[in-house]
Order: sequence, then C-alpha cells, then structure tokens
Amino acid sequence: MGVKSIISGTGSYLPEKILTNADLEKMVDTSDEWIIQRSGIKERHIAADGQTTSDMAIIAARRAMEAANISADQINAIIVATTTPDKTFPAVAVHVQSALGIPHCPAFDVQAVCSGFMYALATADAYIKSGMASTVLVIGAEKMSSIIDWSDRTTCVLFADGAGAVVLEARDAKDDEGLEGQGVLSTHLYANGDGKDLLCTTGGPSCTGDVGFLTMQGKEVFKFAVKYLSEIVGEVLAKNRIHPDQIDWLVPHQANIRIIESTAKKLDMPMDKVVVTIDRHGNTSAASIPLALDEAVRDGRIKRGQLVLMEAMGGGFTWGAVLARF
Ligand code: ACO
Repeated sequence: MGVKSIISGTGSYLPEKILTNADLEKMVDTSDEWIIQRSGIKERHIAADGQTTSDMAIIAARRAMEAANISADQINAIIVATTTPDKTFPAVAVHVQSALGIPHCPAFDVQAVCSGFMYALATADAYIKSGMASTVLVIGAEKMSSIIDWSDRTTCVLFADGAGAVVLEARDAKDDEGLEGQGVLSTHLYANGDGKDLLCTTGGPSCTGDVGFLTMQGKEVFKFAVKYLSEIVGEVLAKNRIHPDQIDWLVPHQANIRIIESTAKKLDMPMDKVVVTIDRHGNTSAASIPLALDEAVRDGRIKRGQLVLMEAMGGGFTWGAVLARF
C-alpha cells in the first residue's frame, strides 16, 4: 500500500468590484477591442481598499474546507502560493491559520508568481507522500492590483485579484492502481532564473525598500510561455504514458487566451474540454488555477473520477504542471 493525495474539496473567492475594459479605456490609452483580441480579457475583479490577500485567502479556504467536510483541527499543514502577501512578513499562511483556528502545524508561503499554485500543490503532495502531513490546506491568493502601475497600459489591463483553495488529503492507495486511482498522479516543476528580468517588480524589501510595480516584456514572456508549456504537457503525457484524449479537463493558468489555445492545440484538445475564466477573471497569478478549478467543480463540469491536467508559467521564469484524478 502507498499513499496518494486526493483533492477532497475546492473553494474560491472573487472581490465584489468588477473593472471592465470600458472602465480601463477611461484610465489609459487602450480599447476593449485591443484587450480582448490580445489577451481574451473582458473584465476582472479588483479587491476593495483595505482588503488584503489573506482576507481573500481565508474565505476561499473556508469554502474549500466546507466542501471537503473537514474541520480546522484536522488540518496539519498550510501552504499559500502568493506574490502579494499582506506584509513582507509574516506569511499569509499564518494569517489563515489564526483566522480559521487551525492548530499548530507548518504554515508557509511559496513564491513562484503565476506558477505558485503548481509549486504549492506539488509541495503539499510531497508532504503527504512523505508522511509529514495528512491533510493540507493549499491556497493561491493574490492582490495583483497592489503591485500594478495603473498608468502602464501594457500591464494594467491584464492583472486582477482573487483566491482559490483546495484541501489535499492522504488516501491509502493500492500499489497497482496506476492511472485509475484517485489523487495526484504526477507533479512537474521547473525554473529558469535567466528570465528573471523579463517579468519582475521594480522594487522589493532588500533593493528599494518598497514593493515596486510589475513590469513585463510581454512579447518575450509570451514566447517562453508557449515553449515551456508545450514542453511540460508533453512531459506529463510521456511520464504517465497517456494520450491527450484520456485527459478530461485542462485547467490552465489564465494569462492569455492565445497561450491557452496554443497549449490545447499541442494536446489536440477541443476548447470545450478547457476551463477558461480569463474573460471574466483576468490574470490572478497564483489564484487563477484554483479559481478555475473551483468554478468547474461547482458548476458540475469536473466530476469525481475525471482526469485533470493543470499547468502554469510565470515570473522567474517558473513553470509547472500537475496531473490528478479528481
Ligand atoms: N492597449 C492598446 N495598445 C497596447 C496596450 C493596450 N493595453 N498595451 C500595449 N499596446 C501596444 C504596444 O505599445 C504595441 O504598440 P507598437 O506596436 O506601436 O509598439 C502594440 O500594442 C503591440 O504590443 P505587444 O506587446 O507586442 O502585444 P502582444 O501581442 O505581445 O500582446 C500581451 C501583449 C497581451 C502582454 C502578450 O504579450 C502576453 O500575454 N504576454 C505573456 C503574458 C504572460 O503569460 N505572463 C506570464 C504570467 S504573468 C506572471 O507570472 C506575473
């Protein structure tokens, strides 16, 4: 008998305020047509003044725990993927722990920008498989609006706020159940630090002493995203010895509809098997995959027993993928 990690519940939260492309037309020299054509985004949610990343993470986490039907005292690790913590320290994870009354346990943030949720999920899976934890709260939460230069039209039209969460629980698994068994089947993580200046912030605690603003060489990042995501989905297929038509759902990071379509094409997957939220959510960085996952679970598209492929690429560069039977 081995151990597998199953996604026993999902939850998410989007702030009330919606910023449309028409709103952005009044703020910078842009157009609804340009934003939709280049990115696929129509509107996005923006956190209220004073609403922090942990405020959003806590709501998403509570909803995931309700869906998983578990109580706070059953959780024995908390991992939050975020690039926009409330403060430089402490971690968002300890805010979540305190607010939800979760007993003493490891609680920490991981920082891999838009790939953050893949890094957090893979780390949680490793905790469970190694016996370090049995029930892990895994969250992706971002207030990207707080690091955006709202006068920079090349970035302000893309990013947004929100949070998503899953509860990952240990399950005894038969050694020979293979791909049919429920749970996380394979995790794949990469980084290439040579891309660190192509997508970054202008500041930080130990260089400027302030958080700075997000800057991005969009065209360059786009090329790397298509390349790395194509490579990593190929690796997932090869490692698990599966054909793309065995995958029920692709739940990609939502950075750009053209990047999503290119990965779906590489997998020969029709777009009706791809969960797309970018039109309504924008790019919520580490929150985008758990937000999309929760939406598709709650509206009944993703069902128990189905094979789900998640993938993301972000600043660093970092990229990653997780294959799981839901
Ligand atoms: N409105 C109107 N025009 C604009 C806007 C705007 N909001 N922004 C840029 N433009 C102009 C540019 O100035 C440029 O004009 P020029 O030709 O006169 O110089 C023209 O539009 C084309 O700009 P490009 O940057 O070449 O446009 P592109 O087709 O590459 O699309 C985009 C830009 C959407 C940013 C795309 O490159 C992209 O999605 N990149 C990848 C983003 C990504 O995947 N990031 C990773 C995750 S994010 C993270 O980790 C935090």
